[in-house]
Amino acid sequence: MKNLRYCFTWAFIIIFIYVNVLVTPYLTHAEGFDSVIQRPRSRLRRTRTRSKWVLYVGDYGAKGDGLHNDTEAFLEAWGIACSLAGFINVVFPFGKTFLVHPVDIGGHCRSKITLTISGTIVAPQDPVVWLGLNQRKWLYFHGVNHLTVEGGGTIDGMGQEWWARSCKINSTNPCHPAPTALTFHRCKNLKVRNLMLINSQKMHLSFTNCMRVVASHLKVLAPASSPNTDGIHISATKGVEVRNSVIRTGDDCISIVRNSSRVWIRNISCGPGHGISIGSLGKENKWETVQNVIVDGAYLYNTDNGLRIKTWQGGSGLASKITFQNIWMENVSNPIIIDQFYCDSRNPCENQTSAVRVENISFIDIQGTSASDEAIKFACSDASPCEGLYLENIFLVSCFGGNTSSFCWQAHGSARGFLYPPPCFSFTDDFIRQNVLVDSNPAIHSV
Ligand SMILES: *[C@@H]1O[C@H](CO)[C@@H](O)[C@H](O)[C@H]1NC(C)=O
Ligand SMILES: *[C@@H]1O[C@H](CO)[C@@H](O)[C@H](O)[C@H]1NC(C)=O
Ligand SMILES: *[C@@H]1O[C@H](CO)[C@@H](O)[C@H](O)[C@H]1NC(C)=O
Ligand SMILES: *[C@@H]1O[C@H](CO)[C@@H](O)[C@H](O)[C@H]1NC(C)=O
Ligand SMILES: *[C@@H]1O[C@H](CO)[C@@H](O)[C@H](O)[C@H]1NC(C)=O
Ligand SMILES: *[C@@H]1O[C@H](CO)[C@@H](O)[C@H](O)[C@H]1NC(C)=O
Ligand SMILES: *[C@@H]1O[C@H](CO)[C@@H](O)[C@H](O)[C@H]1NC(C)=O
Ligand SMILES: *[C@@H]1O[C@H](CO)[C@@H](O)[C@H](O)[C@H]1NC(C)=O
Repeated sequence: MKNLRYCFTWAFIIIFIYVNVLVTPYLTHAEGFDSVIQRPRSRLRRTRTRSKWVLYVGDYGAKGDGLHNDTEAFLEAWGIACSLAGFINVVFPFGKTFLVHPVDIGGHCRSKITLTISGTIVAPQDPVVWLGLNQRKWLYFHGVNHLTVEGGGTIDGMGQEWWARSCKINSTNPCHPAPTALTFHRCKNLKVRNLMLINSQKMHLSFTNCMRVVASHLKVLAPASSPNTDGIHISATKGVEVRNSVIRTGDDCISIVRNSSRVWIRNISCGPGHGISIGSLGKENKWETVQNVIVDGAYLYNTDNGLRIKTWQGGSGLASKITFQNIWMENVSNPIIIDQFYCDSRNPCENQTSAVRVENISFIDIQGTSASDEAIKFACSDASPCEGLYLENIFLVSCFGGNTSSFCWQAHGSARGFLYPPPCFSFTDDFIRQNVLVDSNPAIHSV
């Protein structure tokens, strides 16, 4: 109890200063999601301008009662939307629940489609539905250009049965894949905004091999105990902005992997969960590189990790030009961690002679409370020591009243400003402060 009170006392003092001065503009709750104004019924409805069309899935046979299989109706509406020219709006109306089975939604549309989800889309509860299908996908969009998904509604993965069958929940279960609720693959100029994603089977939202993505005003929610329910997963994607979102799940709030670059994350509230992760990179000796990432403005609460870079032994490639700044943490277990010995397998991982290089990583203006004594941990590999680490204005105190400390192994860098815990490397004026945004403005298209 005494320890807990200590954490709260520290937390209170720092929260007071921090929230009042820095975070208040960021952390007010999301405004109520807008619902779409219903329009009169007819199968294809033209709005004011010539090339704007609205398609209601109900007009294509969707019942929206949560029981009827509405998949076919969605596919039919999409097919029409995709074949027309101009701006097409496909609407899942407010107040209804649409049961949608695993779907594969292809692109190369003539139109620019907006998917307005104002109601709720739910997945089948029973994993048996996926028999003979790809177990990794539920709502799978690929090859679509200029798609916007919005509408203030909810996408519910109904993941409970998948979680119960996970080998991470019960080690007697065999390990098998589970679906990502919403996947966008090879999409360009994509916007996903003003939606709630809940209880995904595995990851909630994944961008793979996409370009120019904006994800904003999202609420991603799943129990802290749900396995592998990452919030937003960014893989092999270039030019991503994630902002103004709340993520509370059982795994990484945001994970950035596999040849991604120009990623800009701002105003994120994260936790519970496993924090914001770069990686894991280099699994099974892969060559992978993540570069030009800025995380600017995040609140992490009760997370297992804070800001993390994790790589496997034996991989190759690079994690570089990464800046974390303006971060407030509360009760975070590994607030700042670089781990080049990451090993998430049942068998122990051997040390190897190659590693993913970790270079030019900055941590600036980071404060709050740590649930572990080692508030800063840089565990870098002998094969490829970390270079160009930079710390400035860090204040991470213990939740439990003791001192916090830094751990370094094969970590090289510099530090400036006020630093607690004291860093392992020396203070210097000859510092390398990343200027990620300047030389890598995400160049996101007009939002
Ligand atoms: C639901 O509809 C889709 C699309 O028509 C179909 O592929 C699927 O088999 C249906 N599922 C069930 C359980 O009827
Ligand atoms: C794990 O699964 C086994 C076999 O299905 C079951 O007997 C056991 O009770 C489960 N354990 C837990 C902790 O749920
Ligand atoms: C930060 O994000 C929240 C939603 O999580 C939003 O309500 C708030 O307005 C955002 N703040 C700024 C400054 O954009
Ligand atoms: C990353 O990109 C490199 C070079 O383009 C390629 O060789 C490598 O296979 C990619 N890695 C993955 C995991 O996609
Ligand atoms: C700190 O976070 C852990 C989860 O990482 C949670 O179990 C614990 O209750 C939290 N403690 C406080 C004081 O909030
Ligand atoms: C790998 O190397 C690190 C650092 O030298 C060492 O602490 C660790 O014990 C080694 N692990 C194995 C499995 O040899
Ligand atoms: C790291 O920064 C140094 C100094 O600015 C630069 O010379 C080097 O090329 C950078 N490394 C990477 C991988 O960007
Ligand atoms: C914390 O560090 C200070 C200064 O190094 C030392 O005097 C004090 O004993 C430490 N407290 C604990 C609980 O280790």
